[in-house]
Amino acid sequence: MRFFVDTADIDAIKELHALGVVDGVTTNPSLIAKSGRSILEVTKEICDLVEGPVSAEVVADNAKDMIAEGKHLAAIAPNIAVKVPLTWEGLKACKALSDDGHMVNVTLCFSPAQALLAAKAGATFISPFIGRLDDINLDGLQLIADIRQIYDNYGYETNILAASIRSVNHITECAKIGADVITAPPAVIKAMANHVLTDKGLAAFDADWAKTGQKILG
Ligand code: E4P
Repeated sequence: MRFFVDTADIDAIKELHALGVVDGVTTNPSLIAKSGRSILEVTKEICDLVEGPVSAEVVADNAKDMIAEGKHLAAIAPNIAVKVPLTWEGLKACKALSDDGHMVNVTLCFSPAQALLAAKAGATFISPFIGRLDDINLDGLQLIADIRQIYDNYGYETNILAASIRSVNHITECAKIGADVITAPPAVIKAMANHVLTDKGLAAFDADWAKTGQKILG
């Protein structure tokens, strides 16, 4: 399973990248706004840092303008995946941009039917939002499982990029279901290293080691 990091925070990307866990990056207009920087500048910096796909999202509301904006974003670097919304206009833009050889990430997917249309329109990635479905008492992980089943039934090559991830459990369950990629905030990826029994075990080892009076080697 590939790990994308869902942020436009350069320092956070650098820290995770140094550990070898960043296979790509996703951004959206809210994350760009949070960075306080221009989309062109921050996206270029991310693309210089990360070899894998970097999603940059269009904000136009019709296919013609989305295509023009998408081409502009794709010119930033060869590893840009143009992110378009799962609307009828977004699907038209997806088809045109993907026919033109660009990677396309179709975002804001909340149903299996939407995911099926995105695959038929040539999406490289489909981004189903788990957390936002859970927020309204629907089952985000069930959506991932449904899309996995549908894509496997027909051999669609569109990658399932599980998004809106809020917890370590979301990531573990996505891996069990067989999502191709997860995108998660840096804090959630870092939290994967935590376990209460690891902390407890380490504290016991440290206490026993102190009793030996020996020094740390090196
Ligand atoms: C994915 O590409 C989105 O940017 C992101 O996962 C949305 O997450 P949120 O619902 O926590 O804002």
